[in-house]
Amino acid sequence: MKSQKLTKKGNLYFPTKKFQKKAWISDKKTYQKANKDPVKFWESLAKELVWVKTWQKGVEHRPPYFKWFLGGKLNITENCLDRHLPEKKDKIALIWEPEPTTERPKIYTYDELLRQVNKFANALLKSGVKRGDRVGIYLPMIPEITIAMLACARIGAVHSVVFSAFSSTALKIRLQDTKAKILITADGYYRRGKVINLKENADEGVKETEVKKVIVVKRAKNKINWKKDRDLWWQDLVKNESSQCKARTMDSEDTLFILYTSGSTGKPKGCVHTCGGYSVQANSTGKWIFDLHDKDIFWCTSDPGWITGHTYTIYSPLLNGVTTLVYEGVPDWPTSDRWAKIIEKYKVTIFYTAPTAIRMFEKYGKGVLKKHKFKTLRLLGSVGEPIDETAWLWYFKNVGKEKCPLVDTWWQTETGGILITSLPGVGPFRPAFTGLPFPGVKVDILDEKKRSLPVGRQGNLVILPPFAPGLLRGVYKNPKKYLDTYWSQYGKKIYFTSDAAIIDKNGLIRIVGRVDDVIKVAGHRITTGELEAAINSHPEITECAVVGIPDEIKGEVPVAFIVYKREKPAAEVKKEVVGQIRKEISPIAVPKEVYLVEDLPKTRSGKIMRRVLKKLFIGEELGDLSTLANPGIVEKIKKIIEK
Ligand code: WTA
Repeated sequence: MKSQKLTKKGNLYFPTKKFQKKAWISDKKTYQKANKDPVKFWESLAKELVWVKTWQKGVEHRPPYFKWFLGGKLNITENCLDRHLPEKKDKIALIWEPEPTTERPKIYTYDELLRQVNKFANALLKSGVKRGDRVGIYLPMIPEITIAMLACARIGAVHSVVFSAFSSTALKIRLQDTKAKILITADGYYRRGKVINLKENADEGVKETEVKKVIVVKRAKNKINWKKDRDLWWQDLVKNESSQCKARTMDSEDTLFILYTSGSTGKPKGCVHTCGGYSVQANSTGKWIFDLHDKDIFWCTSDPGWITGHTYTIYSPLLNGVTTLVYEGVPDWPTSDRWAKIIEKYKVTIFYTAPTAIRMFEKYGKGVLKKHKFKTLRLLGSVGEPIDETAWLWYFKNVGKEKCPLVDTWWQTETGGILITSLPGVGPFRPAFTGLPFPGVKVDILDEKKRSLPVGRQGNLVILPPFAPGLLRGVYKNPKKYLDTYWSQYGKKIYFTSDAAIIDKNGLIRIVGRVDDVIKVAGHRITTGELEAAINSHPEITECAVVGIPDEIKGEVPVAFIVYKREKPAAEVKKEVVGQIRKEISPIAVPKEVYLVEDLPKTRSGKIMRRVLKKLFIGEELGDLSTLANPGIVEKIKKIIEK
């Protein structure tokens, strides 16, 4: 129906009257009201949660530290589960779709999910987990990851999830940092029809850590090694546990979880998120940005191992009492339209995914889409990397059929929840622009000298006080890193995002990309610094440089330039370097190309000019090379690339 399509004025799209009528927020004035007194505004949103004790003070700012909802007490799981009962007792909280099409999905009602969470929470208590203890979770996209996270939160333990595609070394580093005594993992899981032996990685990863017990979910029934005095089957542990467990009363500023994000030297940073502020932001951003209503079936495709999965696959939909869908596998397996089939099968109403997936869907062509009308969809979202205009329009037209508002949401592991995007009932939506800051969020775009830049000028995106309640409170056990990374470029009162951005005349923000060494490979955040550290640990390598190169589907991919000792055949070294990255980081980080070179372009002071390498690879004009100490190497590397 024509009348249902969004209206277009110039390059802007606006929501339909029909959408606005039902939306939580459709009045522009919401922004003005919120921005007049952001603290009061966030406090009003906090009131939507159930608190055991109300806070006494909205915010306290002691740069670079700040606190929200001081003195408030709550438990996020009571807000995710208990408060929806008994009304939503039989309502579906979680739908789990396994990758093998021969297997049956699993459905958890709110009542059932609460009981499973309680059982596992009791099992954790019995295993000696206490309030404040860190618990490692290394699980694939199966229902137990949700249950495990919520069970930790229920008893006041701090969960630290490690993405299941991360290597054993990556797991080890994180476990060593948190000093977790318990790890929750699985025997295996399905990936493109193959069983991945996760337990093998876990066994390797817990070596040289303080982990005493490994709880193993039986998922793929693959053969695994078993350590009798250490390993326990999840299924055995919960069998006789009570389905009741009192939620611990947590202080607003107690830690809810630690989630690591890549550091520039190879050592990841543990972002610390708190019980109160995070809950408020997860609840309200979900409600307003995805316009979550009781009947919604929300599908966020992110793995819970990433922040998007924490907040929008798990916490936010449950806080809002809607149905969340979790799919175990890859979206184009066993057929290219698996994702479309899932939307149709479960009558998904809101679909939230990453540009890399959108570009992949697009690649498969329109044939796939002819069969799928997506009649149930009413809202689309994108996250994780800049979405270019072509992909935006393709998604908007072919999946949303021009009738779904498309929210391009900007945020970070550090921010805990979305901070920039247009509200679906207000708009406007502009392809390749994320939109306006969420009400109550103040941002700016600054040049190197801290001057606020006008419309159209690219600069550094920053967040201004009072920030947002979900912003990280620190880097775990590393105050210096916290200060250096976020609060040193513009002082202790301005949060530096490391993203470059531009604002248009409507106040809409376009994210250009990172200004540090972070690259987004298929939406996954890794740094070239950590890749270099992994490569440099190979004894044959004397020096290396990794750069992020644009990729049609994945957005960006790493390319490595390596100087080696020439004691081994080149082909062997290349293979080993790839193996090294798989082992130290993850298969997702494997470089697209590895070039063996005799030297790297450097300045006279010895700094590697990665910019030159990137331009060489892309075939761009190199510009002024007079600062190079060894300009001769440029031609040589060019020849190697061309070969
Ligand atoms: C990038 C993911 C453009 C950005 C939630 C940010 C985006 C980094 C967008 C954080 C977007 C995230 N448009 N770029 N809508 N969303 N980014 O920690 O560079 O995995 O700093 O959090 O992703 O990545 P992270």
